[in-house]
Amino acid sequence: MRITVSVIKADVGSVGGHTRPSERMLEVVRAQVREAVRFQLLLDGLVTHTGDDIAIIMSHTRGPGAHEIHRFAWDSFLAATEEARAAGLYGAGQDLLVDAPSGNVRGAGPAVAEIEFDRDPASRDRPAEPFLVFAGDKCGPGAYNYPLYALFCDPMHNGGLLLSPKLRRGFALTIIDMDHKAGDGDRVVQLDVPERVWDVACLLQNPDRFAIEAVYSRWKPDEQIVSVSATRLHNIAGTYTGKDDPVAIVRTQGIFPAPEEVVEPYTLGHFVTGDCRGSHVMPIMPVAINTTVAGPYCLPLVSCLAFSMDKDACFTREYVDMFGNVAWEATRLKVQRKADEWRRQGFVGPTMASHAELAYTGIVDALAALDREFVVRHEVQV
Ligand code: 13P
Ligand code: MG
Ligand code: MG
Repeated sequence: MRITVSVIKADVGSVGGHTRPSERMLEVVRAQVREAVRFQLLLDGLVTHTGDDIAIIMSHTRGPGAHEIHRFAWDSFLAATEEARAAGLYGAGQDLLVDAPSGNVRGAGPAVAEIEFDRDPASRDRPAEPFLVFAGDKCGPGAYNYPLYALFCDPMHNGGLLLSPKLRRGFALTIIDMDHKAGDGDRVVQLDVPERVWDVACLLQNPDRFAIEAVYSRWKPDEQIVSVSATRLHNIAGTYTGKDDPVAIVRTQGIFPAPEEVVEPYTLGHFVTGDCRGSHVMPIMPVAINTTVAGPYCLPLVSCLAFSMDKDACFTREYVDMFGNVAWEATRLKVQRKADEWRRQGFVGPTMASHAELAYTGIVDALAALDREFVVRHEVQV
């Protein structure tokens, strides 16, 4: 059976600031998912939150970009928005940037990651279908650049690249230019690694502009391993409306990397753009699913769930909360300390986001006003 896993995530309101959606909002979306399963639009579905974002994780047979699936997610977020409004919550409907999407909600505000594959228990390569779902809050799609680079390009992080003949064949990476304004299509480049690994590095050096959008196996070129929601809200809205809190799907095991290889780079607590007002550079903290943002600043967060899927595409019966494990407690403490130290530098230089990012915030007006006060001081010849 040809199955699509779709993960669609949006911030449509939160309790007491950008912390978490309310229980009632989550219940509204869960009820929608139950109905969608009952009416066989979905085969299975799960609703979670990471910080203030609600993620709907779904399996179905309608393919990536299917209008009815996207419409379903949009309508579910609208229902949660109503609930948020009624309760007077903050930022109701924040990520629903258009009145009504034409079909596909990619580019309309919500983050979308989707992968289609054959679910065939008799398959030689994929008798089982384990996969991971990542959800980030207070960061952008480029937040996955470093961990995905470490995973697919660097045997210092992923020994599997040396140990598995199937991984050794390498991968095809699709990298998207997120500064390209939507209209005439997406601007993308496909690079094969390990051959083009330094070219990949040159692009990923700028995670505000370039992001890995997809990764394909070169052992089985039809098999997509990774999908990342690589769009930027400020390019859609033209102004700062919240961060582009990204989701990603990573298929694992067999001809793909193992889950323990996929999560290894998150022990670093790498710096990403995001945090408070989406305008800082801060280390990202791996957290348990359904974690609230409540610390000082708005530390970027990432959650990770591990699923298996049966022959009927059911995957929610049991799952593993990867970053909820005790193994990550030392990392969390390290990241909080790293963040505390780094924030002591305040706004000066690299602790705030780059000027290209700040261009979507109110600092532009202050700089324009100051610009008019500048004078050129000429040297007086004596
Ligand atoms: P979100 O994008 O998660 O809503 O956060 C926005 C923000 O400005 C936090 O300070
Ligand atoms: Mg928010
Ligand atoms: Mg958010």
